Amino acid sequence: MEKKTIIKAPSEILYREELEALKKIDSGKKPPGWQLSPNAVRTFILGSGKSELKNQDKAITVQQKFYGDDSLIDRCIVTLISNRGLLLVGEPGTAKSMLSELLCAAISGTSTTTIQGTAGTTEDQIKYSWNYALLLSQGPGLASLVPAPVYTGLTEGMIVRFEEITRCQPEIQDTLISIMSDKILHIPELKGEQSTVCAIKGFNILATANVRDRGVHEMSSALKRRFNFETVFPIKDKQIEMKLIHEQTTLLLGEVDIDMEIPLNVLDVLVTTFHDLKNGQTEDGIVIEKPTTVMSTAEAVAVGVSAGIDAYYFGKQRLEPGHIARQIMGTVFKDDPEDMKKFRHYFHTVVKKRANQSREWKDFWNSAQWLERK
Ligand SMILES: Nc1ncnc2c1ncn2[C@@H]1O[C@H](COP(=O)(O)OP(=O)(O)O)[C@@H](O)[C@H]1O
Ligand SMILES: [Mg+2]
Repeated sequence: MEKKTIIKAPSEILYREELEALKKIDSGKKPPGWQLSPNAVRTFILGSGKSELKNQDKAITVQQKFYGDDSLIDRCIVTLISNRGLLLVGEPGTAKSMLSELLCAAISGTSTTTIQGTAGTTEDQIKYSWNYALLLSQGPGLASLVPAPVYTGLTEGMIVRFEEITRCQPEIQDTLISIMSDKILHIPELKGEQSTVCAIKGFNILATANVRDRGVHEMSSALKRRFNFETVFPIKDKQIEMKLIHEQTTLLLGEVDIDMEIPLNVLDVLVTTFHDLKNGQTEDGIVIEKPTTVMSTAEAVAVGVSAGIDAYYFGKQRLEPGHIARQIMGTVFKDDPEDMKKFRHYFHTVVKKRANQSREWKDFWNSAQWLERK
């Protein structure tokens, strides 16, 4: 039988070598309950630049994982040491989840103590629940308690991730208030000492929320006071975004066993299209209507990966702008017919003109003729 392989390992496994090397050389003071010093956590996320770390005679360079505002990372680390939680807010696809995973992997050694916020999230999924068979046979006791992320984080002294917190009902979000201020979890079903679980040092909450979800469920002002808010902005610099999309696309294609060169001139068509539509204006000043859909770096990577797969299996194993044109609709444009109109308009005004000037844009234009039928 063919060997089964996992799709994506959590950050602490993916970057195990880097984390081990950082731990070995880390001489800085560690906050209580932390696996690494604040400086080492920073290096893990922002990279070691050209300097190499040694781990058992092996030289390791820590790769840069987050691009953008370096001081944001410092502020995140400071908040996580303090007695307040950290809430990362921003547009979808700005690497909030990635950052929260990396911070937890570096600080607590695990990033999987995670609650995924949805409209259906219950208190049980946040704090703890019961194994009913054991509860009936043995009565309430720690043996029949099934820990959920907050219980685990509290008792192990770890950071708990709470993804998309504002998608939960406000009364469910509010179960965090007393835990975050008193650092105590009450279990009324248990008697005596067992009914009060005190947090071990190292425990904190790292939540994320999308600004697009604002208004789905507001956060109560009492809970807001327990968090420091940090906004994660999209990458502004086109060159940095190109580099990141190139790296990520190559990496993700590698995960489906596709080893393919991503030509920068082809990637430029993708990134420029995204920038134009996101900004509502081209670099040479032509105003276009912005689509409502999310056009984040993550979405650009998704288009790049689909285009790569298309080129590999249905093309000549060489990525062309035409593959990007074929994949951009399904990946980016979901269900707003107005967006389709705006995109078609962009093609007729901007892309058509560029098609006369370069081979890449010509291929992009030619392959998008099917847009007319949409
Ligand atoms: N500033 C950035 N630095 C590094 N990667 C980024 C950045 N912005 C976006 N990305 C890419 O976008 C991907 C998706 O981000 P994700 O964490 O899911 O976003 P969010 O949770 O904000 O919606 C990341 O895994 C990464 O590949
Ligand atoms: Mg996310």
